[in-house]
Amino acid sequence: MRAVTISEPGGPEVLGWGEVPDPVCGPGEVVVDVAATAVNRADLMQRQGKYPPPPGASDVLGLECSGVISEVGAEVTGWAVGDEVCALLSGGGYAERVAVPAGQLLPRPAGVELATAAALPEVTCTVWSNVFMLAGLRAGEVLLVHGGSSGIGTMAVQLAVRAGARVAVTAGSPDKLAFCRELGAEVLVDHTTQDFVAEVRTATGGHGADVVLDIIGAAYLARNVDVLATGGRLVGIGTQGGTRAELDLGALMRKRASVSATTLRGRPATGPGSKAEIVAAVRREVWPDVERGTVRPIVDRRLPMSRAAEAHALLESSTHIGKVLLLPG
Ligand SMILES: NC(=O)c1ccc[n+]([C@@H]2O[C@H](COP(=O)([O-])OP(=O)(O)OC[C@H]3O[C@@H](n4cnc5c(N)ncnc54)[C@H](OP(=O)(O)O)[C@@H]3O)[C@@H](O)[C@H]2O)c1
Repeated sequence: MRAVTISEPGGPEVLGWGEVPDPVCGPGEVVVDVAATAVNRADLMQRQGKYPPPPGASDVLGLECSGVISEVGAEVTGWAVGDEVCALLSGGGYAERVAVPAGQLLPRPAGVELATAAALPEVTCTVWSNVFMLAGLRAGEVLLVHGGSSGIGTMAVQLAVRAGARVAVTAGSPDKLAFCRELGAEVLVDHTTQDFVAEVRTATGGHGADVVLDIIGAAYLARNVDVLATGGRLVGIGTQGGTRAELDLGALMRKRASVSATTLRGRPATGPGSKAEIVAAVRREVWPDVERGTVRPIVDRRLPMSRAAEAHALLESSTHIGKVLLLPG
């Protein structure tokens, strides 16, 4: 089959499109003929040699895909050849075919076109597991989403609004903030010109954020703790601003607040805290709203996989809103 290849760690130009061995369908797995994959920030780090795939995962890029099941392995029940699906992957999505543990499959939601469904697994699973399963966001609470116009951010805003929360976002331009407002965000903070702590406090009458979904890490840690309400929960899922910073435990104690951080890719396929557990929760809790159209995939553009370099350069320039899809070819 053909897949996106990496000639050596480096910039987007190291990405090519060439022949690689076909995936092998192991027990408990299916093979999916890929309709589309989507670009994630983690792919940029893997391309640079800074984020190696976990043990046993494909070394081809790609953390999610949509497509049609073409092979069903031993011990798989509930899925058949010809089923239209999307899937959370540990790797391998930037290819014509990929092997997927059956627990990481989701049916293509009714009403969502097959390729577009590739925009859903990573963002729904990340947001659901962190904002709802871990931080327990409730109706009436305030959620602050950093990077509100990102793939993750656009899903976080939609799921929080649907849950009856008030949503604040940060983003780097008026256009991006306007898009977040269309999705239902109420408090819009341009992080290039405004201080999110002051803006969120003012907009909430001094209350602050009950939950913060953070993608910046070290550079925002002190201000994220500062913006938390009493009983607040800060969940870190990205480290675009570094991994190491001082944490004021006194401030956390006074607020009875918590800080946690997770990654989806490193989770086991099955068992407690696994990808399969999260995928099952997303199918149960999020899929009905995707099928009703009240939660939708946000796609900036589609490109062929042979132009993956362009897609990576686009994410690096951060001029996109939502997800960038790659289709085989
Ligand atoms: N832990 C996990 O399991 C997990 C899973 C998926 C994704 N993630 C992380 O989630 C983040 C978003 O991922 P994605 O794939 O959706 O990437 P993406 O679409 O490229 O989003 C990155 C976002 O960061 C924003 N940003 C940059 N500097 C910022 C700042 N100082 N303050 C606020 N926002 C800032 C960018 O917007 P502006 O340029 O407008 O600021 C952009 O929207 C990434 O950090 C990724 O690694 C984590």
